[in-house]
Amino acid sequence: MKEFETIKQRFLESLSACKSDAEIADLKAEYLGKTGVLTALMQQMKDLPADEKPKHGAAVNAIKVFIEDEIIRFKEKKYQERLTEKLASEKLDITLPGNQQTPGVRHLLNQIVEEIEDLFVGLGYQVKEGPEIETDENNFEKLNLPADHPARDMQDSFYIDPHTLLRTHTSPVQVRTMIEKGGLEPVKIICPGKVYRRDDDDATHSHQFMQIEGLVVDQNTSMADLKGTLLKMAQAMFGEDRTIRLRPSYFPFTEPSVEVDVSCYQCEGKGCSLCKQTGYIEILGAGMVHPNVLKMSGYDPDKYQGFAFGIGVERIAMLRHGIEDIRHFYTNDHRFLKQFKR
Ligand code: DAH
Repeated sequence: MKEFETIKQRFLESLSACKSDAEIADLKAEYLGKTGVLTALMQQMKDLPADEKPKHGAAVNAIKVFIEDEIIRFKEKKYQERLTEKLASEKLDITLPGNQQTPGVRHLLNQIVEEIEDLFVGLGYQVKEGPEIETDENNFEKLNLPADHPARDMQDSFYIDPHTLLRTHTSPVQVRTMIEKGGLEPVKIICPGKVYRRDDDDATHSHQFMQIEGLVVDQNTSMADLKGTLLKMAQAMFGEDRTIRLRPSYFPFTEPSVEVDVSCYQCEGKGCSLCKQTGYIEILGAGMVHPNVLKMSGYDPDKYQGFAFGIGVERIAMLRHGIEDIRHFYTNDHRFLKQFKR
């Protein structure tokens, strides 16, 4: 009996040292396997007197049951320990503050483009887009700016090859649309998009910026239509009380050409630092489409007339929101951009 107790104790010590299921299986084989400790104990039986045999057999059996039970208990205990450890290490503190997800804000320039698109779509215009990589022909030639024309210097360009460049304005979309319409249908479009010039970047210049072009071609389109349209736009951008003023100017693709000013929204036209005491702020260029431009894109200038205008989107945004540096639009500091939640 004493020997049995020793076996049990030895087994329990070995069991508590087991680190894995494989080690437990090995230990089980050591005791209960064919050549194990218990088999050896059973074999001792044949040397015992007959009256002790049943007791011996029962005792060996009891150890077998004991070992099996202990293994089950030990495994269960290990499982619980691992589970407790896992629960502790994967604990989630649901009372911690979360990461704030701030919803995005539409870029101010795109907001202005959308506002102007909405206005003009309401006036029956189509929105047209053209490629940013343009031919010299569409960007200059067909806008009445032949090679060597001095006015090409007004727009320093990024050329890709002698016939291809990054468009310097959205005006080539006028050419593309008129050619597409084949010289017969009226045209009424606005064309928003990015344009590129070889300028050194500073507070008021950027090598990339946005414009919106407008073009109307029909048989009875007049300068009065242009003026009325631009007045509507100036009021939509700067307030219902605004008036506009047209000053003579020069663009190769329009004749006559005008520079358009809006009455100052800060001083109501009385004169202040914003309008440099003039009461007016320049906002865009426009004019009546030059007969050469109509002709080169397939329209008969004796039958058709048109007006066109081009607005710088950054300029409108800077004026309207008092932004002093054009580079803010492109450095994309979220603190700047998120101020313009609609
Ligand atoms: N394309 C001119 C520029 O980028 C702007 C412009 C002026 C467009 C007069 C026009 C226009 O359509 O009629 O400076």
